[in-house]
Amino acid sequence: MKFGYFDDENREYVVTRPDTPLPWINYLGCQAYFGIISNTAGGYSFYRDARLRRITRYRYNNAPFDLGGRYIYLRDDHSGEFWSPSWQPTRHKLEQYFCRHGMGYTVIGSRYSGLEASTRYFVPLDENLEIWQLTVTNHRPHAAELSVFSALEFCLWDAQDDSTNFQRNFNIGQVEIEDGVIYHKTEYRERRDHFAFFACSEKIAGYDTQRDSFLGPYRGWDNPAAVERGRSSDSVAHGWAPMGSHHVKLSLKPGETRQIVFVLGYQENPRDQKFDPCDSQIINKKAAKATIAKYLVTANADAAFEKLHLYWNELLGLCRVETPDAHTNRMVNIWNAYQCMATFNMSRSASFYESGIGRGLGFRDSNQDLLGFVHMVPGRARERILDLAATQLPSGGAYHQYQPLTKRGNNDVGGGFNDDPHWLIIGVGAYIKETGDWSILDEPVPFDNAPGSEAPLYEHLQRSFRYTLERLGPHGLPLIGRADWNDCLNLNCFSDSPGQSFQTTTNKDGKVAESVFIAGLFVLSGREFAEIARHRGLAAEASSYLAEVAKMEATIRKHGWDGEWFLRAYDDFSRKIGSRENVEGKIFIETQGFCTLAGVGLEDGLAVRALESTRKLLATEHGIVLQQPAYSKYYLEYGEISSYPPGYKENAGIFCHNNPWVIIGETRVGNGDAAHDYYTRINPSAREEISEVHRCEPYVYAQMIAGRDAPTHGEAKNSWLTGTAAWNYYAITQWILGIRTSYDGLLIAPVIPKTWRGFKVSRKFRGVTYHIQVQRAGDGNQVCLELDGTPIQGNMVPLPPAGTSSVAVKATLR
Ligand code: GLC
Ligand code: GLC
Repeated sequence: MKFGYFDDENREYVVTRPDTPLPWINYLGCQAYFGIISNTAGGYSFYRDARLRRITRYRYNNAPFDLGGRYIYLRDDHSGEFWSPSWQPTRHKLEQYFCRHGMGYTVIGSRYSGLEASTRYFVPLDENLEIWQLTVTNHRPHAAELSVFSALEFCLWDAQDDSTNFQRNFNIGQVEIEDGVIYHKTEYRERRDHFAFFACSEKIAGYDTQRDSFLGPYRGWDNPAAVERGRSSDSVAHGWAPMGSHHVKLSLKPGETRQIVFVLGYQENPRDQKFDPCDSQIINKKAAKATIAKYLVTANADAAFEKLHLYWNELLGLCRVETPDAHTNRMVNIWNAYQCMATFNMSRSASFYESGIGRGLGFRDSNQDLLGFVHMVPGRARERILDLAATQLPSGGAYHQYQPLTKRGNNDVGGGFNDDPHWLIIGVGAYIKETGDWSILDEPVPFDNAPGSEAPLYEHLQRSFRYTLERLGPHGLPLIGRADWNDCLNLNCFSDSPGQSFQTTTNKDGKVAESVFIAGLFVLSGREFAEIARHRGLAAEASSYLAEVAKMEATIRKHGWDGEWFLRAYDDFSRKIGSRENVEGKIFIETQGFCTLAGVGLEDGLAVRALESTRKLLATEHGIVLQQPAYSKYYLEYGEISSYPPGYKENAGIFCHNNPWVIIGETRVGNGDAAHDYYTRINPSAREEISEVHRCEPYVYAQMIAGRDAPTHGEAKNSWLTGTAAWNYYAITQWILGIRTSYDGLLIAPVIPKTWRGFKVSRKFRGVTYHIQVQRAGDGNQVCLELDGTPIQGNMVPLPPAGTSSVAVKATLR
């Protein structure tokens, strides 16, 4: 069952009924001002940091689920009837409804009682504000006398405090109202130099800034007293809950259309110019007023929208594919790339599942996210890498997370996740391969942000690599530390008290438990690093890395192979995890995926066998589960993984992030059919038809789909902010379609389904557009290349001479 459809032409998903199984959201903003918006106008806005600069209020885990947003009420002043054109919060029956989620904007509209109303929400480029453009048309044969009410609730900036510290909060709210503009200035008088404004293009009949005056006692957003009676109370918030609502009276002739523009924005003032007059407590509104005046003009708002549109055209135009599979095309050309930009901007901070007050930017997450966005925003990828590297510790280990606002490592979580340092090598490798910018390796970067500790980025990578060699366990495999990629495999934790963090509680000295996953990661990152060293002319160093990699591979074969698949780990008693010897958790996806993608066991058939076992034991119609059998009870020695009920999250859920590892593994053994089949199983677009099962948005990946042990097998959770976005983008573009960046040029190495006759890609790479056409002439993956009509050896397109703007590549697969 579907709740809408894809409009690929306009790069939109169109929701056609408001009661989607869960709120289906979109992101507004892509630089500093951000918003989340659902298909019923729920969600909130913030400046840079969803915790520390929250502009509007939203209530998580509410009933109904989606409450708090950017609301408009329409009231027929003749009959007194009122409704929300976005359905929420009144949930009034509508005659027609649609929500178009597009690239950086959302339009929600409906029709009721002869009146059509739609609102376009977006954040202009280079501005710290959002625009709501409301268009109302009267289709009645007679005039309509209407009242329009806008409504939003301000957050008192720190979202954590806002939802906990009520003894203070109920006393601090402050606003100013001037020329119909509502200014939210809580805490401005003391230590803040920022405020929010909410403006309206029309002359207003009234306003409200105190929530309880607008709603009335014992009422909710579905039935505000002000809207019911058709009159605001011109309330001025003192404490309690400051809000913003404008009341506009609108008379529409038959057939008439009118537009009202609302602007909600964030403004910072220089410390010494906070007040006007300067000895008063009144906000200096000079800068804000100019901005407001500009965007309340429809033509300026339209021009800003056009600019945003061009921005996305350009980003999404960098890599375009045309394959026989519509779901592949749609995801690569539109939604998967778009989601990669969301994970770049948000990391794991703010979605409808991430509350925006918890985690900062993850070290491993952000490095992996790079794989999906580096071709779109290389400059910002560079900055991200340097920020991440600056939180690396002198040991080579890393803070697990850092705060985007301060760019400092997060001490609450600390370090000791022993996979973390290697992701930096993977991230830097991806960046250089994309851009050819070798200079990044010479950038001086501090350790632990300590001034004076700067060393070239290259040295950071050396320390990352050494970190593992200095931390090998009894079998010669890497010690796991607090956890590896799987945050929930906590082999040194042994926690038996409620409330303890599985990640940061450590009861063991960590000298025994080992990770086969990190061993696989070491093989991948070690090879990457060796190539980087070789390119720098450090041949001896490169060979020494390769020697360590070979040693690690041998160790994996000896102590990390279970007979039919790769082991997962050794616990603190040196007992196997992910082995046929175990009663539960006999086989795990991470090592099957990661070892095969890193190329372990390609020559001697171990890779093929591991992938066969994966297919037999872990694959389901909804994707590949994390392990089997699921843990049915809590294992003190395994930690959080066994705390989840079977089938959810890391306990045998389909953790979509690691499915693409298996996909890439399948391409490495040449199995394009299997690779694309797995790709399709979790492709949200391909799952659109079962939206009642999947329940999350059909246009973006979710972190998890419930595994077969769960009663809700196939149900997705935690959509949007997941490493799944980058990894799937990388798997489909670079491994299945095989258009792969390398240090010396673009590799063409497709491993596609047998039934595909071919495909086309246009890809911008280091300033040159490659028009690539791939044709099948046989069943295999052997590539013959022609470059601008001339056959060349091998499957690497060398970098063209400077000044070349485009290259035509023809590849024949035999
Ligand atoms: C979450 C974390 C990620 C981790 C994964 C598996 O997605 O953000 O860092 O690797 O869970 O536990
Ligand atoms: C929990 C989640 C895991 C996530 C981690 C982040 O352990 O289960 O997916 O990576 O929190 O700290």
